[in-house]
Amino acid sequence: MATRRTTRDSSAVAFRERYGPAALVTGAAQGIGRAFADALAARGLDVFLLDVKPEPLARAAAEVAEQFGVAATPVVVDLTRRDCLDAVRAAVPTDSIGLVVCNAALGQEGPFLEAELESLHRAIDVACHATVSLLHGFGREMAARGRGGLVVLASGTALQGSPRYANYGATKAFNLVLGESLWYELRDHGVDVLAFVPGPTNTPGLRSTVPGLKEGVAVGPIRLPAETAEAAVRALGRAASASREKDLAARLAARRRRADANAARDWKREAKGEGR
Ligand SMILES: NC(=O)c1ccc[n+]([C@@H]2O[C@H](COP(=O)([O-])OP(=O)(O)OC[C@H]3O[C@@H](n4cnc5c(N)ncnc54)[C@H](OP(=O)(O)O)[C@@H]3O)[C@@H](O)[C@H]2O)c1
Repeated sequence: MATRRTTRDSSAVAFRERYGPAALVTGAAQGIGRAFADALAARGLDVFLLDVKPEPLARAAAEVAEQFGVAATPVVVDLTRRDCLDAVRAAVPTDSIGLVVCNAALGQEGPFLEAELESLHRAIDVACHATVSLLHGFGREMAARGRGGLVVLASGTALQGSPRYANYGATKAFNLVLGESLWYELRDHGVDVLAFVPGPTNTPGLRSTVPGLKEGVAVGPIRLPAETAEAAVRALGRAASASREKDLAARLAARRRRADANAARDWKREAKGEGR
């Protein structure tokens, strides 16, 4: 049996009790997803790393297991598949997952009409369809257990329409609203939900759109994946949405003030039996 090389401080113990014994992270072979796997393993959670290409995924899982001494299991699944939840469930023991990070996405930049329709649909399948399936499937289990966490990766492109990011930004807006809404719905069931807006992060995905950006370098607003994942893990349970970047965090807070007011109004009406 491997020795766990994970932090033993009291906050890590509380984290394991709330979100353990295992986490599932999508898009975990590289980039922010891999950094999430590291951050969660460092807190002593076993990790199921999900991605589409077997070799890089197997390497990532072996590195996480070696570095942190936790069980790190590669799960090869194509999230464009409509039955992706069944495929995940077949690979993951029932009731083992206390935290799900829906991180995988297909980054897309360029004029909408020049993209192949098929690739636009694939991006929607990964970011929206698969995310809904995983949050619904594992969210039900967590709500029944009365504890757990769900994290959805959004983006600054979710906060307004932007040229060249129409489809991508729209999927991220879906992720943001889904995550923020579920924070309200699931908190009384003991499940923390977080929509997280990373801010620019030096990953293979970002490097494919920023020519000359070298791996492992933080430059200007572009930060390293470990910093982004750590910020998200620390924000879990504190608010419906968060960002590593101050400006984005302030914009999210403004959205939440409005959402809080709406929720308070609805709860008051419900309490008075007035319906919605
Ligand atoms: N990096 C940033 O600056 C930034 C900024 C804002 C938001 N985000 C968000 O943060 C998340 C992670 O971004 P990232 O930059 O780390 O991405 P990335 O470097 O492109 O990595 C994404 C991972 O997801 C995998 N994936 C893609 N399609 C999949 C499928 N059908 N099934 C299973 N796995 C699949 C990719 O595999 P392959 O590469 O093998 O296809 C890759 O390993 C995304 O949701 C993104 O929208 C990132």
